Amino acid sequence: MDDFDLDHDLGLDLIPAPLSVRAVPPSGRYVLDEETRIEARPGTEGVARWLRATVGAATGLPLDPGDDDDNRIVLAVDPALGRRLGPEGYRLVVDGHAVRVDGGGSVGVFWGAQTLRQLLGPAAFRRAPIGSGTAWELPMVAIEDAPRFVWRGVLLDVARHFLPKDGVLRYLDLLAAHKLNVLHLHLTDDQGWRMEVHRYPELTRTGAWRARTKLGHRASPLWDERPHGGYYTQDDLREIVAYAAERHITVVPEIDLPGHSQAAIAAYPELGNTDVVDTAALTVWDTWGISPNVLAPTDHTLAFYENVLTEVLDVFPSPFVHIGGDECPKDQWKASPAARARMAAEGLADEDELQSWFIRHFDRWLADRGRRMAGWDEILEGGLAGLAGLSEGATVSSWRGCAGGIAAARAGHDVVMCPEQQVYLDHRQAPGADEPVPIGYVRTLEDVYRFDPVPAELTETEAARILGAQANLWTEVMEDQRRLDYQAFPRLAAFAETVWSPLPAPAARDHPAFERRMAAHYARLDALGVDYRPPGGPHPWQRRPGVLGRPIEGAPPIV
Ligand code: ACM
Repeated sequence: MDDFDLDHDLGLDLIPAPLSVRAVPPSGRYVLDEETRIEARPGTEGVARWLRATVGAATGLPLDPGDDDDNRIVLAVDPALGRRLGPEGYRLVVDGHAVRVDGGGSVGVFWGAQTLRQLLGPAAFRRAPIGSGTAWELPMVAIEDAPRFVWRGVLLDVARHFLPKDGVLRYLDLLAAHKLNVLHLHLTDDQGWRMEVHRYPELTRTGAWRARTKLGHRASPLWDERPHGGYYTQDDLREIVAYAAERHITVVPEIDLPGHSQAAIAAYPELGNTDVVDTAALTVWDTWGISPNVLAPTDHTLAFYENVLTEVLDVFPSPFVHIGGDECPKDQWKASPAARARMAAEGLADEDELQSWFIRHFDRWLADRGRRMAGWDEILEGGLAGLAGLSEGATVSSWRGCAGGIAAARAGHDVVMCPEQQVYLDHRQAPGADEPVPIGYVRTLEDVYRFDPVPAELTETEAARILGAQANLWTEVMEDQRRLDYQAFPRLAAFAETVWSPLPAPAARDHPAFERRMAAHYARLDALGVDYRPPGGPHPWQRRPGVLGRPIEGAPPIV
């Protein structure tokens, strides 16, 4: 029997599935009660705090500090375990005397604590006890566990639709519950700028809201005539970063350039191609697609974004800073005498090289400050000036399939796999008109479960460049938290398993076994208040009848 079945047969139903599980004799249950103490050894104080704040709140148990009795949860860092399983690895043992969570590093102890919460049952995911009848029991088990990948990410697009700060903090909790450890925050786009920048207040005064919003795909005739907007102050973002750090999650900020920049240009018209369009007349974009209004390749633009990024570095300690680089239409540069003069002065052969000139500038600028640039796979464009011109640490988010990631890995760059064909969770999760504003590929829970971040054609050395993968939640048709939840779940649970667990090759994956464990996981999501898509299809209130998606109704879905 493999460990995944054993996990189910013991009633654990852990998601993501752990590396190994064994029953510990004598069989029985360990009961947490008023007397249970937490003994937090050095380096695990944050985990103890988290356990009290979550499991303590759900159970109503004090879980006071203590080390002197037989009824305790011991949290400890074990360097020997770390040498074997890495810092994120952990061992969780429940026997007749104690619960012990050892981690390779404090991060491993934290993931072990997440497993402990799952073992306590769905009520452990609530914020307060629901009655005195719940027995807080743990099965007698020994679990060893460690992740397959170091980058287990989720992108939240807070630019297209703003997610208020509390919603971001809630998503950090949802990520942590699934042992996901990177939140990529897409902070800027044509439709909104969401980060306060002290030096440039118009970025949020003008750039953080739009007068109205296209409802549905851009071909839809419908509009939501309510103004939409919002932004995070730098203190909000520091709070988000600190909340994430307590959960061992890194927040990677994205400031998208030189395309996807209309909100910035609406705020500061001189950033745009003023010799081609009247940028002073531009507003924050109210519809979807790719705006033709891109940054002008001027010294002023470079200095402006250096100043923006200086504030970004101050707020976000992440080793990686994402500068976008995707979907930059070149028409305005082609038509702009100023852009053509810049190309001539820099010896750039075409507009692709001009784009790569932008990217290389900020790649070097970040590297000089000890950070690593991340960008979408378009950063590989621009001929030799593209790939060969990037610093060693430059990392590629491969979204237009895996080809960009494969090329980058072969050239010795690190890669995060997030192919739109597989892990863009804004795409519909079933065929049919019941899916709300259905867009893109049909990607079911099973499809996501069969995603593998490492393309088969890579050698072992090349494959080592795949840091992991990321599920992307673009929000053009996801206007609020409930729509976000619907698109994210349950598929994010399957995604979590593909980046954490030692799954076999995609075709050999036991999807029915995963679905058996999901039955228990839905109860956890219910307790967490997640508006997931039920396995049988959307609730009536989750549908959006009459709002156009893509491809339009009646056309065959993209498969
Ligand atoms: C992207 O989806 N434009 C990265």
